[in-house]
Amino acid sequence: MDPHLKYDNLKEVIRRHDYKYYVLDDPEISDIEYDILFRGLSSFERKFPELLTSDSPTQRVGIAPVSSFKTYEHNKQMLSLSNVFSKSELQDFFKRIEKRMMDVSDYDFYCEPKMDGAAISLIFEDGILTRGATRGDGTTGEDITSNVKTIKSIPQKLLQSSSFPIPSYLEIRGEIYISKDDFERLNKNAIHSDDKVFANPRNAASGSLRQLDPKITSKRPLSFMAHGLGEVRGAEFKSLEALFLNLANLGLPVNKLNKKVNGIEGCIAYYENILANRDSIPFDIDGVVYKINQFAYQDKLGEISRSPRWAIAHKFPAEEATTLIEEINFQVGRTGILTPVARLKPVKVGGVIVSNCTLHNIDELQRLDPRIGDTVVIRRAGDVIPQIIKIIESKRPDESSSIDIPRFCPACNSKIKQENQSDWEVISSLKNDKVKSFGSKIEAEYFINFSNRPEYQLKEITNRAAFIKCSSVFSCPEIVKGNLIHFVSRKAFDIDGLGQEILNTFIQKSYLSDPSDIFCLENYRLDLEKLEGFGKKSISNLLTSINNSRNIELSRLVYSLGIPEVGEATSRNLASAFLDFSSIQNASFINLIELDDIGPKVASNIVNFFKHEYVSKLLVNLIPHLKIKKIIKKNIDEMPLLNMQIVLTGKLARFSRDEIKESLISMGAKVTSSVSKNTNFIIAGENAGSKLNKASELGIKVLSEENYSELINDPKKYI
Ligand code: IVH
Repeated sequence: MDPHLKYDNLKEVIRRHDYKYYVLDDPEISDIEYDILFRGLSSFERKFPELLTSDSPTQRVGIAPVSSFKTYEHNKQMLSLSNVFSKSELQDFFKRIEKRMMDVSDYDFYCEPKMDGAAISLIFEDGILTRGATRGDGTTGEDITSNVKTIKSIPQKLLQSSSFPIPSYLEIRGEIYISKDDFERLNKNAIHSDDKVFANPRNAASGSLRQLDPKITSKRPLSFMAHGLGEVRGAEFKSLEALFLNLANLGLPVNKLNKKVNGIEGCIAYYENILANRDSIPFDIDGVVYKINQFAYQDKLGEISRSPRWAIAHKFPAEEATTLIEEINFQVGRTGILTPVARLKPVKVGGVIVSNCTLHNIDELQRLDPRIGDTVVIRRAGDVIPQIIKIIESKRPDESSSIDIPRFCPACNSKIKQENQSDWEVISSLKNDKVKSFGSKIEAEYFINFSNRPEYQLKEITNRAAFIKCSSVFSCPEIVKGNLIHFVSRKAFDIDGLGQEILNTFIQKSYLSDPSDIFCLENYRLDLEKLEGFGKKSISNLLTSINNSRNIELSRLVYSLGIPEVGEATSRNLASAFLDFSSIQNASFINLIELDDIGPKVASNIVNFFKHEYVSKLLVNLIPHLKIKKIIKKNIDEMPLLNMQIVLTGKLARFSRDEIKESLISMGAKVTSSVSKNTNFIIAGENAGSKLNKASELGIKVLSEENYSELINDPKKYI
């Protein structure tokens, strides 16, 4: 084949794979296959250097650092958006539009998430990416072409599409951002290698874009999403909807959450839906944008003081706020781990008042070094617990000092133990090369034992002070309380009427010191009735629910014990594999490890837990009070949903989520939380959001609640 042709083909094949991987997030080939193709292209270019073009996928980072960026004058001003925070402000926006559009009635609104990143402009001439620039002040920005070329979701050459010819000149505007997952990884690596930690994805994105050395930019996980049009020659677009459809065909990333709607009601419904699903969107957004869909009407409305009249940003409640640290103390949890907690001057953030903020662990405490009196920026995103993301050093009081790590437990004064956390690598001594890394020593050792390769050696990588723990694991009052709270919780014994306050009182009065005591409370009925705030009726209700809870499923009993790292799913697994309690109690490491989903770490946790003298005594006292429900092992033909993966989403009206989950599991199904290619079907209630969207995108069957009842009665109908 003619080398020119071969070269063009090679580049085009890689571009298509880049598009599938980085834009559609749906790769067609494995990373290794991609690597082989890419290396093929590089070696071709070494063989025929005279053919090399700057739009080759190998040339994304071929450019030397610069000492400063050149300024870039935008052809058309890059506008910014006015904001509204409330429905009443939004109504004013719609009124203004209606007034100016009195003579037209056929305009629509186009809604988009408001990405929280950095705006840029990209220019494609005859389909080739020739320039990238920051927004700057809207009139002049900085020329960051070499950095933009390193961003994998930006095509260096537009894809040829049969439905739309490539315009001779096309300026696309959009947002550079870092996804939530990528951001977390970026900061984790930064912590590991002692680099600067970024406050949020937006700062990281705009900082990375403005690196003078494109090699640094290329290492940052930047992505791009188109959200507007600049100057265009040789093509015409009638509406945003048409624009985005064509941009997607040309290989540019377009937000799948964009939607054309009708009127203010349509816009508000869009806002509510995106706000409700904000946590499951893979990148940060700080609101939604409503735009008039048709370009002719956008022109008619024009702009005022750098903002278009045809668009508005409807912002979500602020997720960041500044406040003061009033105190820092250590909270003892159920597992004995002491967690540093900052007590804050109460402040409203993300729509709620926040007055406490976890500092996670000792490692984090030492890294952040927060002090009493510090002014801090806190962030509370969705349901996520509030975090301190930044300390404003300039406002630090003169006489402040770092927080001391306690040496004695604040609850029981016992000695504190420090548990370090390391990563472990298995190294091959033959090649002096890493074979695999592990998060715990026991997993790495297990891997070495079973691979039977004498050349494998264990290497400890980092050694961080991860946790500090109270040494009185089974007697510290806070640990005892935590265990009792867990024991009576909904997924465990589910005892109504034993809330935290009541447990506290009962512990203080010495009616309770471990879970087995709960079943002896009956003996103190008369005393309990006399306690302040209680009475005959409430104690009688409480004792009835305790009595009812004696009849318990094996999996719930296992879960209620609070074995480290043994949650609901593992408990269920153990119950269905061993069928009775004493078999679980006596299971060996080898018995345990044979089960699916149980690794060496969890297996050793289980064995060590039951070995403990305190646990043996507790169980001797506890088990006789219980009536553990027998598990009748079902035949395969009684499990029509065996190994099927099902996802529940949305508000279910007739059945509780737990009920549905239990019945599906009893029929052999696995109920998972996220939709993937392996999901067999989803059961969707009202207001189902992103999971439903993902399921329809992947062509996965969606069942309603009615369908679910049919499924339970007659599964054959659905499989
Ligand atoms: S449209 C005239 N659409 O918000 C319209 N902007 O305050 C200007 N942004 O600089 C931009 N998501 O960085 C538009 N879907 C979206 C957006 C968006 C985020 C940013 C953009 C812009 C700023 C305007």
